[in-house]
Amino acid sequence: MSNRPLKVAFVCLGNICRSPLAEGAFRAHVASQGLSKRFLIDSAGTSSYHVGELPDQRSIAVAARHDVDISGQRSRQFVSSDLQEFDYVIAMDRSNQSNINALSSGEQRAEVTLLLDEGDTRTREVPDPYYGGPGGFDHVWQLVNEATESLLQRIISEHM
Ligand code: 4NP
Repeated sequence: MSNRPLKVAFVCLGNICRSPLAEGAFRAHVASQGLSKRFLIDSAGTSSYHVGELPDQRSIAVAARHDVDISGQRSRQFVSSDLQEFDYVIAMDRSNQSNINALSSGEQRAEVTLLLDEGDTRTREVPDPYYGGPGGFDHVWQLVNEATESLLQRIISEHM
């Protein structure tokens, strides 16, 4: 086992709705296990639509209801070198995953998986809540909160 921090990135399309929630929920699980120093946690979007923006107010609100503050996050675009940089690249849906894989230049460090490969939810994709109502954000929170807890258990079992 090396002492290099494990690098984990959550990726969606805009990096304003789903992946900021996944980043926030995973950070909270890591902190509750006392492992914050062992991880570098980030999120990104495959598009440049919202680069530099805060998370969507509806994501900020649902996270805050669960005592997680994601308002310090800013959207950035996922880049090819992230595949060399990160150990775990976690996509919210299959479209994100194929956009990420299209940036691969061959040799890479990252394992690229779907977030909902973790746990035992029936759906494999985190639905995009952007054009829906606030209830969609509660559903996304529930999915990402459970799945990031399972993800952390898997990473711990693989590395610690
Ligand atoms: P996200 O949601 O990928 O979960 O951040 C979206 C945000 C913005 C757009 C689409 C999805 N958009 O088309 O602008």
